[in-house]
Amino acid sequence: MVEYSGSRPENAVQLDLFKPMPFQAEAILAPTSRGTLQSKFQFERSKLLEKFHKRITPNPELDRTLVSFQANRRIPFYGWFKYKEGFSASLVNLLVQKSGKNHGLLLDPFAGAGTALFAAKALGWNAIGIEVLPVGHFAMSARMAAEKVDLDTLKRILDRIPKGGWANYFDENYAFQHIPITRGAFPTATERAMAGFRAFCCRSVRDYSLRQLLDFACFSILEAVSYTRKDGQYLRWDYRAGKERVLSRFNKGTILGFDTAIRDKLEDIFRDIASTRRNAPPLLHETQKSSYHSAIDLRLGSCLEVLPQMKAGSVDLVFTSPPYCNRYDYTRTYALELAYLGMDATAVKELRQNMLSCTVENRAKVSQIESQYSRSHRQDEFAQIERTFRRQSALHEVLGILEDMAAHDQLNNGNIPKMVRNYFFEMCVVIYELSRVLRRSGQVIMVNDNVRYAGEEVPVDLILSDFAEQFNLRVKHIWTLARGKGNSSQQMGEHGRSELRKCVYVWEKG
Ligand SMILES: C[S@@+](CC[C@H](N)C(=O)[O-])C[C@H]1O[C@@H](n2cnc3c(N)ncnc32)[C@H](O)[C@@H]1O
Repeated sequence: MVEYSGSRPENAVQLDLFKPMPFQAEAILAPTSRGTLQSKFQFERSKLLEKFHKRITPNPELDRTLVSFQANRRIPFYGWFKYKEGFSASLVNLLVQKSGKNHGLLLDPFAGAGTALFAAKALGWNAIGIEVLPVGHFAMSARMAAEKVDLDTLKRILDRIPKGGWANYFDENYAFQHIPITRGAFPTATERAMAGFRAFCCRSVRDYSLRQLLDFACFSILEAVSYTRKDGQYLRWDYRAGKERVLSRFNKGTILGFDTAIRDKLEDIFRDIASTRRNAPPLLHETQKSSYHSAIDLRLGSCLEVLPQMKAGSVDLVFTSPPYCNRYDYTRTYALELAYLGMDATAVKELRQNMLSCTVENRAKVSQIESQYSRSHRQDEFAQIERTFRRQSALHEVLGILEDMAAHDQLNNGNIPKMVRNYFFEMCVVIYELSRVLRRSGQVIMVNDNVRYAGEEVPVDLILSDFAEQFNLRVKHIWTLARGKGNSSQQMGEHGRSELRKCVYVWEKG
């Protein structure tokens, strides 16, 4: 056995995966403490680790900067809107080239702000992106608009529009429509200036792509001009917002005034577009030439609904990073942007339920997915997915433990086991579909992190890779980054924890 220690309980629990069974290991092991129970019940995870351990290798070419948004900050276009959950264009360039494939159709079913799509297009690929959050969709559409705008017209407009004093154009009809969690996010003067800017653009800029770009500029400074900061799993409030229920003295530093922030953003955007246009012709490589003919097809919606409608065997490469199983709530973190795009509180709640389950509030989508497959007479495929999920013993081992902990109030939220269960069921559907839509010898390149709840590790990389193998995807690599998460000396000391793997998986269709 590798890494995990422990022995299998004699009568391992039979699980009905959609109706959680009470965890019985306690009766079997009669531990003196929960810690003993946990450490003795890791047999299935050890087995899975043993199965894959030769393919888990550190890849020195990958580091945390490359696998996160950070490396995008200074690259024209990519840095306009800070989508912190993204990976970098350099990662896409590196791994697409390493995949040995040099053209075809690339799919990102969790497209975010479109890093994989735009980087692939620049390499001469066609790309399809699916994204459920209108935030990423809006950012991608704006970027596509930027590729179309006429530089001279943009310059003329930027020269003509006021350099400040946006509040003077205030029009109530363009006022920010708050939802409860965004109320009080901006200083009053900022809100008036923002409404003035939007009213002016709507009335005075006729070209649709240009208007879209100006609207996007405003959208991408929302955090900078607000009292909030996207922080870890939620929106953090600066004490200056004067929120009654926010007791902390968090100070986010400088809060930009609207006039300055929008002027700087528009200058950035113009500079990037101008420099790309100026530099493009003499620098045209063969791949860049073909990128002019490449196209991006964007689909707004859940990949759980869109993927099953895609043609089998039509995709050459999947490059993606799904939400992590870490309780991160995109609809709260991006609440300002969602409200800006016109969503009300009910629409935001619905959106939360539509996203891949990774928050404790997500309800199971099993019956929805099942009826979708039955409607298209694909019950057999649903049964295969369900069977694969049901038989993944390492997952059910950890679910059993988490359910037991929840029953004993040992998790900081009792819905964590449900979230983990839903996450993996939905990912099982996604992986089945990715295999179906891939051509023979097509690859999936996926970025994801392992997670841990109350000291119990969920080996996301191994479980997802095992699903992949059941669906005819050979696991070529599970590359780990030099330093994973959860390994600060304090954490390691507190819980005797091992480092959590942060990985890039490469699967190939057999
Ligand atoms: C880790 S982020 C991907 C970021 C992306 N790689 C980038 O560089 O911008 C995961 C994305 O999945 C999206 N998402 C969540 N549930 C989804 C679903 N059911 N269908 C499609 N996209 C979904 C989230 O909105 C988020 O943008």
